[in-house]
Amino acid sequence: MRYQPIHPELFKLNRRRFTRKMLPDSIAIFHSNDLMPRNGDTFHPFRQNSDLFYLSGLDQEETVVVLFPDCVKEGFQEIAFIKRTDQFIAIWEGEKLTKEKATAISGIQKVYWLDQMDNILNELILLSKRIYVNPNENDRFNSAVEDRNLRFAKALQKRYPLHKYHRSQPILKKLAMIKSPLEIGLMQRAINITGDAFKRVLEFVQPGVMEYEVEAEITHQFIKSGANGHAYEPIIASGSSNCILHYVKNNQKCKDGDLLLMDFGAEYANYAADLSRTIPVNGQFSTRQRKVYDAVLTVMKGAKELLVPGTILEDYHKEVGKMMESALLDLKLLTPSDIEKQDSSFPAYKKYFMHGTSHHLGLDVHDLAHRYDPIQAGMVFTCEPGIYIREEGMGVRLENDILVTDTGPVDLMSNIPIEAEEIEELMNAGVLS
Ligand code: GLY
Ligand code: MN
Ligand code: MN
Repeated sequence: MRYQPIHPELFKLNRRRFTRKMLPDSIAIFHSNDLMPRNGDTFHPFRQNSDLFYLSGLDQEETVVVLFPDCVKEGFQEIAFIKRTDQFIAIWEGEKLTKEKATAISGIQKVYWLDQMDNILNELILLSKRIYVNPNENDRFNSAVEDRNLRFAKALQKRYPLHKYHRSQPILKKLAMIKSPLEIGLMQRAINITGDAFKRVLEFVQPGVMEYEVEAEITHQFIKSGANGHAYEPIIASGSSNCILHYVKNNQKCKDGDLLLMDFGAEYANYAADLSRTIPVNGQFSTRQRKVYDAVLTVMKGAKELLVPGTILEDYHKEVGKMMESALLDLKLLTPSDIEKQDSSFPAYKKYFMHGTSHHLGLDVHDLAHRYDPIQAGMVFTCEPGIYIREEGMGVRLENDILVTDTGPVDLMSNIPIEAEEIEELMNAGVLS
C-alpha cells in the first residue's frame, strides 16, 4: 500500500461498534470486492470493498472477515481469511499479506488461508442461528453486475435455508456516517493532497492548455503524495462544458475568456476528498463571471453554517434553495413573477441549480449513510452549490468538505483558496514575478 500504516485501534473500534448491534447468536460475513475483468487477460486496478476495509483495514483481494461475537468456540469471535501465499507464490505475485501482517493491520488474531474457509465457516454457521450478509445497498446504485457479497449470500441461502438472514448495511450505514478522529485525520490527508493539486493547477492553467493536461497535473500531484489516485472520475470542464454536470471527457482546449470548472478529489488510504473549484482560464474573471462566482460563494458560505447537529437534510436543502433563489433574483436570472408562479415540487431555482447541495463523504465519495437521519456531530458533508447558465455558456460550482461538530461546522478545506481575488493572485503570481 502507498499510505502510511493505520492504527489497528480504528478497525477494532469499528468491529466493536458493529458487533454491539448484532442480534444474539449471529454470525456476520464480509467479502472483499472482486478483481473486475477488464479485457483479454487483464483486470481493472483493485479497490477494496469499503465495508470490509472499515472493519479490518485489510486491503487485498480474496479476503473474508467473519464476526461471531457469541461464538462458544474459544477464539472464533473474529476471524479473517486471506489468500494463501508463500515464498514461491511471492516470486510471481510479489508481496501478499502474511497471517502475521494481517493480524498487525486488523488486530484480528485468528487468520486462516482462504482455502480453509469452507470447513471452518461450515462449523461456525452451524453454531449460529442467524447470518448477516452484506450486499451493496447504496440506494443510488444500480448495476447489472452482482457483487461478491450478493453472490455469496445467495449461495449461503441455498446451503443453509433454515437460518435467519439479516442485512449488515443498515447497521453499517448508521456507523459509517459518524467519523472517528482517526478517520477525520485520514480524510484531512486526502483533502490536503487535493488542495496541493489545486494550487498546482492554478500555476499551470493558461489559455491553450488542454483539459486532460490539467487532469495530468492533478494526477501527478496525487500519485507523488501517496494517494491511490482519484476518488472518482475527475471533471475538468472548460467553456460551455461546465454546464454538463457529469462531464468527464476532459478533451477540449481551455480558451481565453472561458471559465474552467474542476471537480476532483484524492483517495488516500481509501478515504475520499471531494473538491470543486471554478477558475478563469486567463487568470482574470470578467465582470459577469465574477458576479456569478460571488453569488455561488455567498450561497456556499450561508449553506455550510446550516450543517449543524439536529438539522434534517431535506430541510437544509430547502433552506439552501431559498438562498439560491435570492442569488438568482439578484443576478436577474429569475424574476419575482417566476417565483410567484413556481411549482413547489420543482422550484424555479432548479433551472440553474439542478443538483443537491450536500452528500455524506468518507470511504466513498457518496458515502454509506442513512440520509434521512438528522445531522449529527462527526458527520462529514460536502457543500457544493452551483449556478449553471446554459444560455451564457457558463457554469460555476464550488465545493468544500465540512465536518459537523457540537461547536459548529469545521471547513476541512479552509486552507484551499476560494476567494476570487486569491484565485486571481495565485494564477498571476508567475506573470508578476
Ligand atoms: N464529485 C462528485 C460529487 O460532487 O458529488
Ligand atoms: Mn460532491
Ligand atoms: Mn465533487
